[in-house]
Amino acid sequence: MAQALLTLDFLDKAPATPEATPSANVRVSAATRTGRQRKLYIESYGCQMNFSDSEIVSSILFDEGFDTTDDLASADLVLLNTCSIREKAEQTVRMRLSQINSYKKRNPGLLVGVLGCMAERLKSKFLEEEKIVDLVVGPDAYRDLPQLISQVDGGQKGVNVLLSREETYADITPVRLNSNGVSAFISIMRGCDNMCSFCVVPFTRGRERSRDAHSIVQEARALVAQGYKEVTLLGQNVDSYKWAAADGSEHVNFAQLLERVALVSPELRVRFATSHPKDITDEVLHTMARYDNICKFIHLPAQSGNSRILALMNRTYDRPWYEERVHAIRRILGADCAISTDMIAGFCSETEAEHQDTLRLMDFVHYDMAYMFFYSERPGTLAARKLADDIPLEVKKRRLQEIIDLQQLHSARRNERAVGRVHQVLVENFSKRSKEHLSGRNSQNQVVVFPKQNFKKGDYVNVLVHSSTASTLLGEAV
Ligand code: SAH
Ligand code: SF4
Ligand code: F3S
Repeated sequence: MAQALLTLDFLDKAPATPEATPSANVRVSAATRTGRQRKLYIESYGCQMNFSDSEIVSSILFDEGFDTTDDLASADLVLLNTCSIREKAEQTVRMRLSQINSYKKRNPGLLVGVLGCMAERLKSKFLEEEKIVDLVVGPDAYRDLPQLISQVDGGQKGVNVLLSREETYADITPVRLNSNGVSAFISIMRGCDNMCSFCVVPFTRGRERSRDAHSIVQEARALVAQGYKEVTLLGQNVDSYKWAAADGSEHVNFAQLLERVALVSPELRVRFATSHPKDITDEVLHTMARYDNICKFIHLPAQSGNSRILALMNRTYDRPWYEERVHAIRRILGADCAISTDMIAGFCSETEAEHQDTLRLMDFVHYDMAYMFFYSERPGTLAARKLADDIPLEVKKRRLQEIIDLQQLHSARRNERAVGRVHQVLVENFSKRSKEHLSGRNSQNQVVVFPKQNFKKGDYVNVLVHSSTASTLLGEAV
């Protein structure tokens, strides 16, 4: 199956380990050729939740007679699954729409739709602002796509941006779009009930709801049967996963769900994201410790190292609380558990000393990886309504650069520490540089490259690491 993956560098975002940067990617649907009549080209921006939703959308449209294509020029329907998290993310989509406009001039029958968070944020205003758009569909309305498309086929525009308190698409089997056949994502919940003051997600994704635990375990089983070796459980705040059977006979929290998925097969690696520092429990950490196949990697976004800024951000924890959670991880899982973070530089009213607190928190944790941004005000959020976006752009950028520089140092040290040790690697692909080498990740999510010998995709291989670069560990199978 042809596979296309286009990576763009986002200027406002600097991942310290480029291989592991889901949200810096734009993903293009791979081609499925099953002789269906119409061709869907879908491009996904933003986070893993969007990438995962595009697989649900493809599944819904497959049943409506659409194959996916990785070639925009041969598409009958183009969908952009969009992100609103920062201004830059929205600008990228607008630029893409103007490029697609030139295709549409040559091919007037082409239908163009926007899905996802920007569709939800702008609603029917999108149709006024971008004349080329025929369809605007929010994250909870994808089941309505067939109906909306026939409306557009009939010469009208189609809009559905209703948010739902129940929709989890639990019964839809996703079409795996950019899969390496080894790792897959499973959405376990949707929406977010936190109200971080900088964040647009609660507005674009609606209320938090958890998916039926049985359908999650079922999906993991089906993936194992197809030969998959790794699943990542996805949610904006996985630690608040909470599902109850309709008759009240069963209650499942995140630690219990994690255990159920880990028990599907000892050969299946289990990852999850994102953990919220206010909600991650010792019970989750003990569950991680009990199962070798639950990866020792926790994405625990701090956002800032200063308690006053954390309060303004409405993160509902302070610096001592965050440090205590890091201690708990070290106590229960040892130094081997990797921790990553998201940091925002230059939030409203942040002083130089408060920025230093963020750098000192980084020195304290020694993050293995980080996604780093400067603050971008989003319309409608608490911060946009109540706080002045008063840090000059040059200052935001300079502070961000200091955060990036420090993280690069920490990432390099962490890679050096991995040298001389044996790591269990799950092989995902050939190395980008050579077909004679394979590439995979260890439990801590570090990328490891080694000579292929007779190993193949999907194998677990013990690799003795002999050297490291800023982003990759190099070694030999032992
Ligand atoms: N649910 C996750 C994060 C989702 S958004 C969590 O709570 O951690 C991913 C990251 O984007 C956030 O962690 C934050 O660091 C960043 N982000 C969100 N809104 C932003 C904004 N307005 N400006 C800059 N960065 C932002
Ligand atoms: Fe946004 Fe906060 Fe929800 Fe994360 S937890 S999605 S940052 S509101
Ligand atoms: Fe994800 Fe962007 Fe929406 S980060 S939830 S696609 S705003």
